[in-house]
Amino acid sequence: MKNNKKLWVLAAGLLAAAMPAFGQGKDWALYGGEGGRRFSSLAQITRANVGKLEQAWRFDMAEAGDPQTHPLAVGGIVYAYTPGLDTIALDGATGKLKWRFHSGVKAGGPQRGLSLWRKRKERRLFAAAGTYLYALDPATGKPLVDFGDGGRIDLRAGLNRDVDKISLALTAPGTIWRDMIIMGFRTAESAPAAPGDIRAFDVHSGKLRWSFHSIPHPGEPGYESWPAGYWKTGGGANAWSGMVLDDKRGIVFAPTGSAVSDFYGADRTGDNLYANSLLALDASTGKLLWHFQGVHHDIADRDFPSPPVLLTVTHNGKRIDGVAQATKQGYLFVLNRLTGKPLFPVTEMPVPQSELEKLSPTQPVPSLPAPYARQHLSEGLLTNRTPQAHAWAVEQFRGFANDGPFPHMRLGQQTLAFPGFDGGAEWGGQASANGILYLNANDVAWTGGLADSAAVHGAGARLYQDNCAGCHGADRKGAPPAFPSLLDSKLIDGQMAEVIRSGRGRMPAFNFTGEKMAALLTYVRSGEDKEMAATPAAGASPAYRFTGYRKFLDPDGYPAVAQPWGTLSAIDLNSGAYLWRIPLGEYPALADKSTGSENYGGPILTKGGVLFIAATLYDKKIRAFDPRDGKLLWQAQLPYAGNATPITYMAGGRQYVLIQADNARDKKSPQGAAYIAFALIAKVKP
Ligand code: HEC
Repeated sequence: MKNNKKLWVLAAGLLAAAMPAFGQGKDWALYGGEGGRRFSSLAQITRANVGKLEQAWRFDMAEAGDPQTHPLAVGGIVYAYTPGLDTIALDGATGKLKWRFHSGVKAGGPQRGLSLWRKRKERRLFAAAGTYLYALDPATGKPLVDFGDGGRIDLRAGLNRDVDKISLALTAPGTIWRDMIIMGFRTAESAPAAPGDIRAFDVHSGKLRWSFHSIPHPGEPGYESWPAGYWKTGGGANAWSGMVLDDKRGIVFAPTGSAVSDFYGADRTGDNLYANSLLALDASTGKLLWHFQGVHHDIADRDFPSPPVLLTVTHNGKRIDGVAQATKQGYLFVLNRLTGKPLFPVTEMPVPQSELEKLSPTQPVPSLPAPYARQHLSEGLLTNRTPQAHAWAVEQFRGFANDGPFPHMRLGQQTLAFPGFDGGAEWGGQASANGILYLNANDVAWTGGLADSAAVHGAGARLYQDNCAGCHGADRKGAPPAFPSLLDSKLIDGQMAEVIRSGRGRMPAFNFTGEKMAALLTYVRSGEDKEMAATPAAGASPAYRFTGYRKFLDPDGYPAVAQPWGTLSAIDLNSGAYLWRIPLGEYPALADKSTGSENYGGPILTKGGVLFIAATLYDKKIRAFDPRDGKLLWQAQLPYAGNATPITYMAGGRQYVLIQADNARDKKSPQGAAYIAFALIAKVKP
């Protein structure tokens, strides 16, 4: 009897460990869904009736911003963020606000999701605000004060850096494993930046349980892929795009981004493991099981931009558990989940070399599937929208350096990035069922360049060029609409200082005060420099600095490359073949409705046989496609662009499809933000 009891306890333990954290069922309880597949087993909405979807409710937020939130829905309650990054709970059937948690932390920018931990009756909702991770009571939105410091932990702590000098943002939610929450973060893309440690914290106490150094410390494997001692000052190699758990095996898959600084890496010679890598970590201990590096010594900001997708495919007659990782450069790496070995051969392709620093001679390229974004720009691939636009683009194009998918930035000359700095794939992720991956991508070109840091004199200019020029341009003109010009800002000094201190949209927060802030503001306003007693921290400036992201647009503001400018594809990862591929998105002002457009935010898939996606920047629509052939089944106009990934869930007997929308990336359109829910109103009586 005693033994039986022991066995029973053991079996129950194993069962609990083997059981998915939560079945998707009626809820959307996990960021990106189980295995990152963005799949729901709901089937009230079907291919046959999706055409009758109507708006069920809309929750408006009187704030501007760009949270890009993919919410949770559990037991008919939706958990989400406002643009100011308050956490909110909405009644999933009516959109009525149930509670709102205002942390008081000044924060903005993307905060793409939340995590829910459940055990028996106990519930903990993990939400972010700026650099803080909060544990909230999902019933009331009140902080659970036993967690960390009165209900929150500061993710800047424990990184071996001065917490006041680094800025972090929790762009993707943590991954729950047993009684731990595993966290990555976004950090600044210029020095000083935090090292991208991946860390597990106790869901009750907030105490650190394990830490994986993505920039290895002495004695750890990969250490020799950096200059000695780099780990003490270097930053990046951080997991900002979100992780995925194999809960049966207790493995967490973490994709990482590039090392700092993004575009010039002479101070970080070597392959720079584990930047730009997919990591398989033991979720219980943080021990590295295997890694796959997608870009060696990255100097083009080729982060792994999406969470990976866990799927099972048939290769050579064998069922294999795989993991698919999308990239900005248009490749999809499909790896064996247990070993990290590619399922389709990956070869090291020789790439153009730089005169400014030693690059990796080769970069990995998969044989299959074919890239989902174009790889080499040529005159034949420039825009044909009008003869004038084409002629203009040809002239510009001839002035650019052109390296293909692995560009290196030149001094005093613009280099093409094609696929662009925003992919290829992006943070919205992909949906999957039956080994087929549904992936949306951008297909426009950008350019960038380097300038000599030594040419910068004076404290204000240096602060600006080191911290701001990457986005707002060396000339302060930005790259509108993505990065605003600072020359025509209508903000008064106090407001501008506030934006700089708190960050906004894609802009991180900067901790400048006193004389530094004054010198910076003077420079931003006038281009003039005030001498300052204390110069900025030494070592902050590499020899060359990035002069700013620029989209390659024609004089009318349309992409200067031939269409399609954005696509949606269905790729069979059993065979590596494309099942279909269509342009995604329109420009309302263009007669041609098949151009595709830039899109941010991913698809979801349902058992009802429908793929839902919004994402398109300019037409601001949400669409339903038939996953079998890419046929459009339904579309609706949103009040703002749905630059987020939708969710679907049941509430009060009805299936809802919910999307967050705002116009932060399209400043010419009316600003605002809302959650909009759709359902079959007439057809289904709850
Ligand atoms: C990673 C890119 C990035 C960096 C680095 C960055 N910014 Fe920004 N900044 C942005 C973006 C994007 C916006 C628009 C945010 C929005 O409204 O959603 C912005 C907005 C602003 C605004 C508000 C403009 C207005 O008129 O509304 C100011 C001022 C500003 N930035 C100044 C700075 C300064 C000064 C620095 C350096 C200390 C800096 N930024 C660094 C991306 C960046």
